[in-house]
Amino acid sequence: MKATDILEEEHRIIEKGIMYLDFSVEAIRNKKEVKKEEFSKVLDFFSTFADKCHHLKEEKVLFPLLELRGILKEGGPIGVMLFEHEEGRKLVREMKEALNSERKNTITNEQIAILASNYAEHLRSHIWKEENILFKLANEVLLEEDDEKIVSLFEEYEEKEVGYEKHKHYVEMINQLSAKIKVL
Ligand SMILES: [Fe+2]
Ligand SMILES: [Fe+2]
Repeated sequence: MKATDILEEEHRIIEKGIMYLDFSVEAIRNKKEVKKEEFSKVLDFFSTFADKCHHLKEEKVLFPLLELRGILKEGGPIGVMLFEHEEGRKLVREMKEALNSERKNTITNEQIAILASNYAEHLRSHIWKEENILFKLANEVLLEEDDEKIVSLFEEYEEKEVGYEKHKHYVEMINQLSAKIKVL
């Protein structure tokens, strides 16, 4: 399996979280119930799975090797992706703050809907850029041995930073939540 295949598989999982955000934005705007506790779990999914498991794999393992193979960081696609990771972190922080100021068990705060909608859009566009620009470039410049090295570093890195069990927990949680939305 190629390094970019692993990351693209994770994108498909992150998209389930985006689906939950879309659902919440709709619901908040239509004054339907969005449970604070459930939304908070999804924010935790974004900070742990999307950020720690996924973005950090890109930042600590893939991007440095791409730089080594000549893809530009400053003023190039890697720099743009790094900047966007930071923007995403800021939006998640802002959502968490807004959620903390929500006094009821159900979300009524329109600010959360605005932030969630911005974050969903931000992630969709980020994933699109990676898959259609950066990962295509990566597959052109990476040697076969680079790929092998990246895949094994991904495993090492993930075990050290998050742990396999936690990774599995977040995948199961977001699968359950997104399946629930589908039947609503
Ligand atoms: Fe990324
Ligand atoms: Fe990504």
